[in-house]
Amino acid sequence: MTRHFLRDDDLSQAEQLEILELASRLKRDRFAERPLEGPRTVAVVFDKSSTRTRVSFAVGIAELGGNPLIITTANSQLGGKETPADTARVLERQVAAIVWRTFAQAGLEEMANGTRVPVVNGLSDDFHPCQLLADLLTIREHRGELAGQTVTFVGDGSCNMAQSYLLAGATAGMHVRIAAPADYAPTPSVIADAERAAERTGGSVAVFTDPQQAVAGADVVVTDTWVSMGREAETAARLEQLSRYQVNAELMELAKPDANFLHCLPADRGFEVSADVLDGPRSLIWDEAENRLHAQKALLVWLLRQA
Ligand code: CP
Ligand code: NVA
Repeated sequence: MTRHFLRDDDLSQAEQLEILELASRLKRDRFAERPLEGPRTVAVVFDKSSTRTRVSFAVGIAELGGNPLIITTANSQLGGKETPADTARVLERQVAAIVWRTFAQAGLEEMANGTRVPVVNGLSDDFHPCQLLADLLTIREHRGELAGQTVTFVGDGSCNMAQSYLLAGATAGMHVRIAAPADYAPTPSVIADAERAAERTGGSVAVFTDPQQAVAGADVVVTDTWVSMGREAETAARLEQLSRYQVNAELMELAKPDANFLHCLPADRGFEVSADVLDGPRSLIWDEAENRLHAQKALLVWLLRQA
């Protein structure tokens, strides 16, 4: 049966681990899997800007033996001009999988419901699950087994990265803490879904308004931009409410002495994170960015095996 990857909890804990182990293997031996030999094509569609997602999918699809077809909404019929369902029916006759970076999660669901080929969320307003596979791979590489580790996301708790940390971290058996102002808390249904996942895996989920309390004793501290793509009109209000949530050296002092820092990038130094933390010795951001490649290759290999 076709499997899609629209949100982090589309994978069970065992499936997530299988993909992370495959990613580690592909990192050691980059051309070990060639499921797209032919070449078969994967469509990678962008309604929003991207550097990492575009590059890592293009390179990864080529390394799997395939042909990446990058489509931007500005010069296609997507983006309000044709429905996701109709687009999916056109693409599925010609491509092996569809990756889509978009706004509404509902569009991804409509696309997935309308097609027999795997659909992958390349970032939506609600979730960024490919990034989380890369983040979890990075944490495993540097800190070992995921289950039992404490990860704290500080900042815009309503953004795609915070919500994906809730779902992916809980699926991995981690203790996930979010520190955010009340107006920027995660969606209640996402918290509830993460709590259900945590019950199955032995992880836990907690939402704080106090960043100091949330970071105390954490293994990993994470943040993301205060102004996600599509939220630019809210910039002034966001900067005002979120300024107390900067990850800086003083905040990192409260985490474990060997705690690591992650950021999906692009970063705004001096806003959500100070430059000394982002560019400092505890930061794993460049490994994290590279791991997009290995994690997404593993994801595609795995999805194509299920089809
Ligand atoms: N982290 C991430 O998804 O980066 P891009 O927006 O550059 O793809
Ligand atoms: N939360 C950010 C992530 C960018 C990769 C955004 O959606 O803009």
